[in-house]
Amino acid sequence: MHEAISARNLSYHYEGADKNAVDSVNIEIARGEFVAILGRNGSGKSTLGKLFNGLYLASQGEVFVSGTQITDENSAYEARKHCGMVFQDPDNQMVATIVEEDVAFGCENLGVAPDEIKRRVQKALETVGMSEYALSAPHMLSGGQKQRAAIAGVLAMQPDIIVFDESTSMLDPSGRRDIFSLAQRLNERGVTIVWITHFMEEAALCQRLYVMDGGRVALQGTPREVFSDAEAVQKLGLDVPDMTALARQLKQNGIDVRSDIITIDEMEVELCRLA
Ligand SMILES: Nc1ncnc2c1ncn2[C@@H]1O[C@H](COP(=O)(O)OP(=O)(O)OP(=O)(O)O)[C@@H](O)[C@H]1O
Ligand SMILES: [Mg+2]
Repeated sequence: MHEAISARNLSYHYEGADKNAVDSVNIEIARGEFVAILGRNGSGKSTLGKLFNGLYLASQGEVFVSGTQITDENSAYEARKHCGMVFQDPDNQMVATIVEEDVAFGCENLGVAPDEIKRRVQKALETVGMSEYALSAPHMLSGGQKQRAAIAGVLAMQPDIIVFDESTSMLDPSGRRDIFSLAQRLNERGVTIVWITHFMEEAALCQRLYVMDGGRVALQGTPREVFSDAEAVQKLGLDVPDMTALARQLKQNGIDVRSDIITIDEMEVELCRLA
């Protein structure tokens, strides 16, 4: 069985730029994984996401999505059937004047039969909890609802991989949690998730992390592995999760907690153990 995504020495060069935005990247993402891509502004995360989704074609190296190598517009079109993408700004993703038409849009482009589109749209709206808004105007929705509608549009295309490019960054904390847990639910159903984020709390809950810097993969591993080296993480322009920082502070103050804590749940267990 092939990997969901496989990148080998993958590079991307924007016309006129003085260096590669993505530079000799090697990444393997297995089917069913939930992987985060981190890194400071301009480190190449979005460019990488667009290479996975066939929006950009590699300048050098190879990228395989669900076993298909993306080499030209035809294979990019194939890749887009397998790999959907959800973006940052909820307002820039809606094209139609009614939610259900918007959700149908991607499917229509794939040439899916009208009856089948209707069925898929209904199911996708159900999955994201937006059935009651099927006939609403997109501009009447909250940011979080717009993101859910955007996700429904991607789901209707029945992808096996979804790249989320900072899809929670314009939402309030509750909207953010809502979208992240929706991604987790989709992952439980077998969808491979590539989660690009600036939020370390979200990264802590992913299975594996890649940290980008200057277009390259600078660090990779499980959240515990990556965040255990706080200095390396900070050098790459990132913070460690709040609970990791708190654990370090408690330890410095002589309180004997585990030093490899990354989530609130783990901190809770540790503090209860001490109490
Ligand atoms: N359309 C473009 N034309 C030229 N250069 C670009 C273009 N888009 C991005 N770049 C450059 O490519 C590099 C990588 O950008 P990219 O958007 O992939 O980074 P990012 O990690 O997603 O950043 P952010 O966290 O700000 O979203 C940056 O140096 C950026 O300035
Ligand atoms: Mg970006």
